[in-house]
Amino acid sequence: DWKMDSFVETTIRQIREKVGDGKVLCALSGGVDSSVAAVLLSKAVGKQLTCVFVDHGLLRKNEGDEVEAVFGPDGQYDLNFIRVNAQERFYSKLAGVSDPEKKRKIIGEEFIRVFEEEAKKIGAVDFLVQGTIYPDVIESGLGKSAVIKSHHNVGGLPDCVDFKEIIEPLRLLFKDEVRRAGLELGIPEYLVYRQPFPGPGLGVRIVGEVTPEKVRIVQDADAIYREELAKAGCDKGLGQFFAALTNMRSVGVMGDERTYDYAVALRAVITSDFMTAEAAEIPFDVLFKVMTRVINEVKGVNRVLYDLTSKPPGTIELE
Ligand code: XMP
Repeated sequence: DWKMDSFVETTIRQIREKVGDGKVLCALSGGVDSSVAAVLLSKAVGKQLTCVFVDHGLLRKNEGDEVEAVFGPDGQYDLNFIRVNAQERFYSKLAGVSDPEKKRKIIGEEFIRVFEEEAKKIGAVDFLVQGTIYPDVIESGLGKSAVIKSHHNVGGLPDCVDFKEIIEPLRLLFKDEVRRAGLELGIPEYLVYRQPFPGPGLGVRIVGEVTPEKVRIVQDADAIYREELAKAGCDKGLGQFFAALTNMRSVGVMGDERTYDYAVALRAVITSDFMTAEAAEIPFDVLFKVMTRVINEVKGVNRVLYDLTSKPPGTIELE
């Protein structure tokens, strides 16, 4: 891919010229955009780059460790990597809060606070890296007429850190070009093709109050769902698929015992732009297998539902 080849080469050279011997800070989420941006910077300026990865305890199962394996000290890239294990902090802020917008606000604000604290420890920074891509540029230019959900991404960071200049190496690329650049840079495929994951993470896939127990349930159910879809080969072509936790508990029977446990909702959507979406036709035998495994393996769940709702009127996430 000579075009990507030359994009990567040119961009690295331009970054080097711009940064000189300056210090660079990057908020790494583990998503494809911030990962590709971080690797470009790492190739250009090595240890002048520090990546801060905030684990808010609302990531998919093992995701924090996966990000650390790639970008941490045992990974393949030359950079400073800081993982902030802020799980407890987020859980305690979220305790007792069930309103979706309040939850989003708390997660977004806490994220910025944690990042700000880390940035202060690092000291004077010259450049802040953002994984902004072309569609983000267009979208923020148009403005949104009605806020359906307050979106959390790293957009609030520039206000909380002192720096001289922002670096946005991907701002002219579309998503598929970002992925191609990622492959060119040797980023593992599972990271490059990772499905979009919302900033507030599992916080918007747990209806109602977030507790560590609910996080554990949704992580385990989601891991089973993803594993079975991949095994059956039906994860291809899906825009997003995940398990969510409804806030509903209902009566069931397990052995001779009455149970009163949560219902997990499985979601899988086909979409071209995430503005509209339709539920995917996952084969019944695959759903059945997932149901059986989730009920047997995930404590606290006694019912599994498949979410058929289109967007609109539903949204892709549950909150
Ligand atoms: P909804 O649920 O609104 O989601 O249909 C549309 C797409 O946006 C993602 N999403 C987010 N992404 N920060 C993000 O970066 C957020 O706060 C956020 N909320 C939803 C969602 O995963 C889907 O791809």
